[in-house]
Formats: sequence, C-alpha cells, structure tokens
Amino acid sequence: MQPMWMAITREVSPTIGRCELTHFKREAIDVERARAQHHAYRECLRRLGLEVMELPAEPDYPDAMFVEDPAVVLDEVAVIARMGVESRRGEAELLARVLKEYRPLQRMSEPATLDGGDVLRAERTLYVGLSARTNAAGIRQLAAETKPFGYRVRPVTVSGCLHLKSGASWVGEETVLVHRPWVDAEAFRGLRVIDVPEGEEQGANVLLVGNTVLVAEGFPRTAESLGKLGREVRTLGIGELMKAEAGLTCSSVIFRVE
Ligand code: GLY
Repeated sequence: MQPMWMAITREVSPTIGRCELTHFKREAIDVERARAQHHAYRECLRRLGLEVMELPAEPDYPDAMFVEDPAVVLDEVAVIARMGVESRRGEAELLARVLKEYRPLQRMSEPATLDGGDVLRAERTLYVGLSARTNAAGIRQLAAETKPFGYRVRPVTVSGCLHLKSGASWVGEETVLVHRPWVDAEAFRGLRVIDVPEGEEQGANVLLVGNTVLVAEGFPRTAESLGKLGREVRTLGIGELMKAEAGLTCSSVIFRVE
C-alpha cells in the first residue's frame, strides 16, 4: 500500500489572545482573521496531497493550535513531551489521545522539558534546541527514547528566539536555512547552511512538504533563495498567527501513515 502523509491540525482557540509569548510584545489578535489564515494553511496542505485532520479548538489552551509542540512524531514512535511552560502541559495528553491511534507512545518525565518546535529532523539526526522551553534533561530523554530506533541527537544552542525552528528550518537535500544570530550554526556542520537574508529573520521558519516549501508572506528574498535551490515555493499569509509567535511548522504535526 502507498504511504500517505497525515497532518494533524487544531482550530485556533478563541482565547489565542492570551497565548504564551517569549520574545514578542503582546498585540491584539483578531481570532476570525487568525482562523481564516489557519484555514488557508490547511487547504494548502490538502492541495499538496496531505490528509489533514482538523481537531476542535481548545478554549482552555490558548496555544493548542501549535500542535507541533506537544510531541515528536517519528516513523517508529511518538514521544509525548513535557512542555516547557506550565500553561501548555495539558496539551500533551490531548494530542496523545489522537497519536496513540498511529504510533506507540513514549512519555517524557520531570525534570525534562521539551517543545517539539525545538526538534529539527534531518533524516536520522534530530537537532534539538537548548532553548527557553527545552532543557538538557529533555534533550537527554529524547536521545534515550529515540536511540533504539537509530536516531542520533545533536543539541543546538538557541538564543533570541522561541524555538530552534523559529531560527532554523530543514529544506531538504542536506540543507538547512539558518538565522545565525539566534542559532549556533556550528551544530549543523556537515550540512549545507543557507543564511536567512538580512532583515527577514522572522521568515526563517519554513515548512518543506515534498519538494514544495511554504514561506510566510513578506519574506521575498527568503522565498527567492529557496527557489534557487530548486524548491517550488508557495507563500502563505500568516501575519495574524505570527502575533502569537507562530511559524509555518508549528501549526501541524506531519507524519507518514501506511
Ligand atoms: N505562543 C506559542 C508558544 O509560546 O508556545
């Protein structure tokens, strides 16, 4: 049977205006506009051939639409994270209830903290940000849980942005897009590193789906440099969601299903 790619998503919470913020100043978020942007994102994933699951909004969890963060889903296992902020920890069980239909689960435990936004997968290597959300114990636990399946874990120091993937993205073919002031690019030695064009650091989070890369609207030189790599580039307006410190990867968790 042909493998299929699944994208789990969750509707924008009506309480998103109370989301966690680490580096951004709080701005009012227009929920309807944010929902329209999220809808367009889901439709884009569908057009790229993914099966998109839409979970309902969770009013008790303002950040719950960022479904990338509560788990690390690999072909063999889903590691349920102990998230870096208390207000989001309950999201992990909500997602675990869905993921258990697709993968065996492993759960991280105290003192570990980890957000999935800190995990950048490059084939069998997991680059993991040591960030405001993910601690050294979280990186060690992820390494222990995934080593039996042949993954190696490489820590990456992150500062000045929320997650590793706020400042670095996998764009395929041994290549990462990196904003070096936020992310220690030395950690990616052996890979090809493309620098985020000056002034476009908020566009460093891009989402690769097959040979197509989704880039947030407003970062034309980033789009151009990814086009030069041979990727098909699609831009999406996510400005309202970005007020919640969102990127393109964090609004879905994408994995293969047989
Ligand atoms: N607002 C996204 C997060 O802080 O986790």
